Amino acid sequence: MDAISVIRTKRDKARLSDAQIDWVIDAYTRGAVADEQMSALAMAILLNGMDRAETARWTAAMIASGERMDFSALPRPTADKHSTGGVGDKITLPLAPLVAACGAAVPQLSGRGLGHTGGTLDKLESIPGWRATLSNDEMMAVLGDVGAVICAAGDGLAPADKKLYALRDVTGTVEAIPLIAASIMSKKIAEGTGSLVLDVKVGSGAFMKNLDDARELATTMVGLGTGHGVRTTALLTDMSVPLGRTAGNALEVRESVEVLAGGGPADVVELTLALAREMLDAAGLPDADPARALADGSAMDHWRRMITAQGGDPDAPLPVSREQHVLTAPASGVLTGLDAYAVGVTAWRLGAGRARKEDPVQAAAGVELHARPGDEVTAGAPLLTLHTDTPERFGYALEALDGAVVVAPPGTAYEPRPIVLDR
Ligand code: URA
Repeated sequence: MDAISVIRTKRDKARLSDAQIDWVIDAYTRGAVADEQMSALAMAILLNGMDRAETARWTAAMIASGERMDFSALPRPTADKHSTGGVGDKITLPLAPLVAACGAAVPQLSGRGLGHTGGTLDKLESIPGWRATLSNDEMMAVLGDVGAVICAAGDGLAPADKKLYALRDVTGTVEAIPLIAASIMSKKIAEGTGSLVLDVKVGSGAFMKNLDDARELATTMVGLGTGHGVRTTALLTDMSVPLGRTAGNALEVRESVEVLAGGGPADVVELTLALAREMLDAAGLPDADPARALADGSAMDHWRRMITAQGGDPDAPLPVSREQHVLTAPASGVLTGLDAYAVGVTAWRLGAGRARKEDPVQAAAGVELHARPGDEVTAGAPLLTLHTDTPERFGYALEALDGAVVVAPPGTAYEPRPIVLDR
C-alpha cells in the first residue's frame, strides 16, 4: 500500500477500501505517511466526501490507533456529553456535577479552545490550583469518589485524531462532516462511556451554520456511537446568539457557579437541564430529577468536591481583568440581533482564546452581555463590557463587533429561537 494510491482513489471520487483506511491511519500515526500526504487526502475527503461505511471504518481505525478506557468496574452507569462548540458554551461546567448528583458517573474528557469557540479546560484553569491533567488512576479515583471528573484526554487516546485534527486545523480541512464525526466519536468511544449525548450547535457561532448540515453531522455521529454499543442521542441547539451573558474563561466559570447556586441566565439553565435529562435517560436513570438537584444544593456540593479533588479552590476569588471597555447601546429600542460569531471573535481577540495551540490564554479576558436579544435597551446604556489584561487589544476586538448588534425601534416584536431546535 502507498499513500499516493490512497490519495488518488479519493481524488478520483471512488470509495476507500477498508484496507486502505486501516493502512493510512496506522501509517500516519507511525509517521510513515507524511503530513503533506495526509493533508492532500483530508482535502480530497472534504471535497468528495466519505459514505457512512467509510466513515465508520475511519472511526474504528482511529480508535484502534490508541488505548481504550474501561469504566465497567464503576458501580454507577456512565454518561458523557459532547458539544460541537459554541460561544459562551459553559454548559459542561454545571452539567457534569449535576448529572453526578443525580446518580450517574460522568467521565468528561474535554479540550481547549481554538479559534472563536472557548474550551472547557481553559475555563476551569481560571480557578486557582485546578489541574486539567490527571493520570488514568487519578481520573478513576475522582470519578469513583465524586461521580464527575473533567480533565484532558491522555496522549494515548485516539492519537491518530490528535495528529490529524492539528493538521486539519492548519490546512482548511476541519469543515468536513465525515472527518468531524470520526474525530469526535473516535475519542468518545475510546473513552469508554456507556452513553453519550451530543449537543450539535447550529448557527453563526457554530461549525454547522444550517440545520441540514447539523442534522447530517448528528445522524452520522449517533450512527457511529450506536454501532460501537454506546447509547447515543443528539440535540440540535441554537448558536445564533451567545449562550448566557458571558463569553470568556473566568467570566463563564462565574456564570456556571450562579447556575449551580440556583440562579444564572434562563437559557443556560434550560439547556443544562435539557442535556441532563437526556444524559440521565441514556444512562438508564429516567426518574432522576435534575431540577431538584440544582435547587437543593446537591449539584453545587458535587461541583465543590470535583474542583477540590483536582487541586482547585472553589472559594478562591476568580481573576478579574486589568482593563474594561464598556460599549453602549447605539439607540433606544429592542435588541434584535447579537451575533454569536462576532461575540466569540471579540472574546478571542481580547485574549480569551488562542490562534495557535501553544498560545497562552488570559483567564479574565472576554465579553459580558448586559442585554440579550429581546431585551429593551436605552441609548447610551451599557450593552457589552469587554475585559482584557492587554488594553491595546480593544481596537482590534471592537472591529469584530461591526454590524453584530441590531437595535430595532421600540415596540418591535421579537420572536426568540427555541434553544433546543430538534432531537
Ligand atoms: N471537534 C473535534 O474534536 N474534532 C473535529 O473535527 C471538530 C470538532
